[in-house]
Amino acid sequence: MKRTLAKLTRARLPLALFGLVGAAVGLGPAANAAEESAASRSAATTPELVPLPARVQPGEGAFALDATTTIYANNAEARAVAQLLRDELAAQQGLTLALRSGAPKHGKGEDEPSRYVQFVAEPAVTKADAGANERYRLEVTARGIRLAGPPAGLFYGYQTLRQLLPAARTAPPLRVGATTIDDAPRFAYRGMHLDVGRHLFPLDFIKRYLDQMARYKLNTFHWHLTDDQGWRLEIKRYPKLTGVGAQRKETVVGRNIDPYVGDGKPYGGFYTQEQAREIVAYARARHITVIPEIEMPGHALAALAAYPELACTPGPFEVGTNWGVYDDIFCPKEATFEFLQNVLDEVVAIFPAPYVHIGGDEAPKTRWKASAEAQAVMRREGLKDEHELQSYFIRRMEKFLHTRGKRIIGWDEILEGGLAPDATVMSWRGEAGGIAAAQQGHDVIMTPTQCCYFDYGQGPAAQEQWNLGGELSLDKVYAYDPVPAALSAAQARHVLGVQGNVWTEHLKTAAMVEYMAFPRLLALAEVAWTPQAQRAWPDFQRRLGGQFARLDRDAVGYRIPAPRGLDDALIVQQGQAHQHRQTVTLSPAVPGATIRYTLDGSDPGEGAQVYAAPIEVVLELDKPVQLRTVTVLADGRRSGVQSATLRYRSYLPASDAPQPTSAGWEYRVYEGLFANLDQFAGAQTPAAQGVADSLDLARFGRRSRFGVRFDGYVRAPADGAYRFALQGDDRSALYIDGALAIGNDTYDRTIEAVVPLRAGWHRLRLDWYQREGGMSLSLRMAAPNQDWKALDAAEVKH
Ligand code: ACM
Repeated sequence: MKRTLAKLTRARLPLALFGLVGAAVGLGPAANAAEESAASRSAATTPELVPLPARVQPGEGAFALDATTTIYANNAEARAVAQLLRDELAAQQGLTLALRSGAPKHGKGEDEPSRYVQFVAEPAVTKADAGANERYRLEVTARGIRLAGPPAGLFYGYQTLRQLLPAARTAPPLRVGATTIDDAPRFAYRGMHLDVGRHLFPLDFIKRYLDQMARYKLNTFHWHLTDDQGWRLEIKRYPKLTGVGAQRKETVVGRNIDPYVGDGKPYGGFYTQEQAREIVAYARARHITVIPEIEMPGHALAALAAYPELACTPGPFEVGTNWGVYDDIFCPKEATFEFLQNVLDEVVAIFPAPYVHIGGDEAPKTRWKASAEAQAVMRREGLKDEHELQSYFIRRMEKFLHTRGKRIIGWDEILEGGLAPDATVMSWRGEAGGIAAAQQGHDVIMTPTQCCYFDYGQGPAAQEQWNLGGELSLDKVYAYDPVPAALSAAQARHVLGVQGNVWTEHLKTAAMVEYMAFPRLLALAEVAWTPQAQRAWPDFQRRLGGQFARLDRDAVGYRIPAPRGLDDALIVQQGQAHQHRQTVTLSPAVPGATIRYTLDGSDPGEGAQVYAAPIEVVLELDKPVQLRTVTVLADGRRSGVQSATLRYRSYLPASDAPQPTSAGWEYRVYEGLFANLDQFAGAQTPAAQGVADSLDLARFGRRSRFGVRFDGYVRAPADGAYRFALQGDDRSALYIDGALAIGNDTYDRTIEAVVPLRAGWHRLRLDWYQREGGMSLSLRMAAPNQDWKALDAAEVKH
């Protein structure tokens, strides 16, 4: 997530992976039978394409492409795409093909080519629904390949064709299986974002990013150019924006935001207007629109450091060095509007996109509340509070941008105080903002943290470097459907699409960005492109396998995903048996890679066992076994350590304490700055205590640096495997009958556990602590085959 300090509750639950009574069941995104059958149908037949095209019909035989193949193009637009294929075949396969104008003659004649690749550009249509200009038809027969569509569609058809050609250099002929593909995107907006405010990246890297976006048919690059920690775009009229605002005196070390530790090393840089134009042109050649983001009214500290007169207080200000949300934001006075309009005039001259992103997120109203100038604007404009003042601010900027022929996009906070009439909302704090905006008839782009924040770790935080915290696995990105069920069909048409966000507080290098973006970008691309009914996780995993060789060829430093089959498993005790034999079958996510593993809790090193056949694990009762793996690619690159826990569990006996009688939780409040859950567990001497009828934290007020322990009992009506689900921000842990059941050290995720309980009362202890930003806590329980229940005074006694 962009901001370390504002943390959110998930709108949607993650999918737990656990097995019951011997069967390791993955409740994955494809649990539904229709999807499974779509998956198995296509598994046998479809090539390893990502994103999966809307319609793929296999044909008979194959086309054999060799040096005698001729490329045809019917006009200049087709020729531009044809030339890409020609260049690629020359560079990667050493095949130089003739490129001619026109079409292959299908009659008789001396020079009738026996083999052809034909590009047919059709006219683009002006008023288009999603995809009308991005559709294509690709026909491969034994005689040749014919690719037709409007220019953008032709470009995407070429991306599909590239994936049908061998990834590695191959002796000709190159065989392409006969097929007919009719394809068009599900969504018109298919985006990737990059934050260059926190750390910036070389132009060449941004081009690589765009290359990969184009490969996977993404068409919008959201360039986050300004933030508290750096202003990155040259603005000629205001040279101090980059002269002062592009430099910070140092950067926070690691996660030491509170207490703050700086590295003492100046950091900075920016893009000239000429460089930005170069990126726009590079993107345009790949059918990618670049949407610039100029943040207002918040995240403006770098600009205020350069021009303190735009703030509500005199300053001086320093470019931000810590991550978070700063109180100093643009003051809504005339000088600020004039400044921003002048800035935007230069911005719109660089970026031809129909939209400008004006930010709008995380703008604390502290300064506006205390500012006579801001208050005077509120009185003048008849605004009832500072949210309406923010709305006034955004509306003014929208009105101005309309005069320049542009529309605005803003983060979902622009809903607060009333949406600007024509604004498009980027829904990031879950889906609620997107739903509300679509219901009001506004366009929406879905980028909720639980699908789309690629600064979250791709596995447990302890095993993933650099991430902000939070966890967003590849399968969860894939499982996302950007159209919320709450929308009617008419409202759903306002969902323009979906975007992956890469916030770079913790990403200092291009290599780190690549690691975080890949392969999640491929899952997102399929969410954005492929009809929902065609999507199935197992089939995606199979097709993804075919993409790694291509990413390797382009030297993309993707995260190597965990082996398939590396899933947590829980087996409930059967009768009196003290052992259970569990078989674990693994396969590497990257074809041809080697898996090394350990079962003793050590990290698999060079000497660790190589996986060659299903692993038989003898599980002793209540002795969890960690299966740890490292995947090693053919070129020697190694994944991080990835693991699953296998458990054979006995029932927890019911409490023999006297039966609890009073409803609700007992709670104890502890003051302090807790670094982790273990430290909180050791907290002594409560500052306050009492009884609570729910886990609602509002009763403790909004403050930081404290924690609460809740104690209570729940009743299991019968012996069985009970499910518990815990969500907490900042951190939370659940103990059942004295033993840790769930330790939740990621804030934007619900963690589930299954615990076998004997009938009777069981003792719960819930630890939770707060540092800054969002605070939330929720604990639910489900009896076997029953729905979830919130654990409040109706369920809990003490
Ligand atoms: C955001 O992450 N603050 C849009």
